Amino acid sequence: MSSAPSELRLAFVGCGRIASYHLDGIETTAARTRVTAAIDPDAGAAKAIADRCGATVYSSLADALQDGDFDAVDIMTPHDLHEQLACQAFAAQKHVLLEKPMAATLDACVRIQQAAGEAGTVFMVAENSQYWPEVVKARELAREGAIGEVMTARAAFQHSLQPFWYPDDSWRYEQSRAGGGIVIDGGAHWIRPLRIWLGEIDSVVAVTERVVDQMQGESLSQALLRFRSGRIATFEALTIDAPLWSGPSWRLTGSSGELVIHDGAEPGVTLVNRQHPEGIRVGEPGGYAASFGPELADFEAAVLDGKAPEAPAEASLGELRTALAIYRSAESGRWESVWE
Ligand SMILES: NC(=O)c1ccc[n+]([C@@H]2O[C@H](COP(=O)([O-])OP(=O)(O)OC[C@H]3O[C@@H](n4cnc5c(N)ncnc54)[C@H](O)[C@@H]3O)[C@@H](O)[C@H]2O)c1
Repeated sequence: MSSAPSELRLAFVGCGRIASYHLDGIETTAARTRVTAAIDPDAGAAKAIADRCGATVYSSLADALQDGDFDAVDIMTPHDLHEQLACQAFAAQKHVLLEKPMAATLDACVRIQQAAGEAGTVFMVAENSQYWPEVVKARELAREGAIGEVMTARAAFQHSLQPFWYPDDSWRYEQSRAGGGIVIDGGAHWIRPLRIWLGEIDSVVAVTERVVDQMQGESLSQALLRFRSGRIATFEALTIDAPLWSGPSWRLTGSSGELVIHDGAEPGVTLVNRQHPEGIRVGEPGGYAASFGPELADFEAAVLDGKAPEAPAEASLGELRTALAIYRSAESGRWESVWE
């Protein structure tokens, strides 16, 4: 009888910006995962990852599948390559961790899900905000009744145009590669927590604008979200080439108080309620970067232990569908259904 593998041998497909966060997460939190292949047509990017973990460098997934030593892939490429690479990996019977969005169109997502079903391997879409310590803490506090009945939320995804994420030649500026602007991209990380706290989004009404010349998609969006529960929330997304004041990322407001969630230099959750009208900090500060360790550990446990991931791959369609509905609403000027 063959025993279950004790180690997850993982290939990084795309060794760019987010790959370094995934590797940090593996190093800190996913002790049974070993990155054995670093795949990227940019040899320097692949080498930078390989130098940290001893992986073998490949210039393409096809080459790595020929003789690489891995059971799973972690796909971290521009959005227009997600479908092709995920389907290639599933055809080779690999487990797949795929960065968000699953793909930029719903048709491509259907094809990926079909390939995953045929492979029967583990498929997880990497949405790190599912594991973001402050998001998790706020969910716990809300469930414990710390702010009474949850009534509404305000999400603000606001960033200066950072050269790290937006170098001059970034694929993020191209509509055909990213599938849109900032809502379909980083906006996803602000939408998932709203769904965790308030349930499924039913419909949206939104406007979008371009405030960054070189970005073909939207760099500003203001949206109202109506949830199936009837509750409403606001979602604001802004990337602009100017310094910005660091405001809260989310405010989750209930019938007897609110939770204010900060990221940036001083991440944390502030609880304001009748007992603490001045507000108190609750929980240990974590922040965005601390979400990748538990994410990679969740994938590791799904492959090695058969654990169900914290969120199924199809949960990520909620962020994608919300982004696509925001785009439709910006065109139509009307409320648009997220799930049609
Ligand atoms: N979870 C998060 O917070 C977060 C943050 C940033 C990016 N992302 C997601 O991660 C993915 C990558 O974003 P990024 O910022 O790291 O982009 P990036 O441009 O920094 O890195 C992408 C890498 O993919 C490589 N690549 C291109 N074609 C390839 C191919 N055929 N095979 C293998 N590698 C190939 C590029 O050379 C590049 O090194 C996207 O899906 C993005 O939405 C998630």
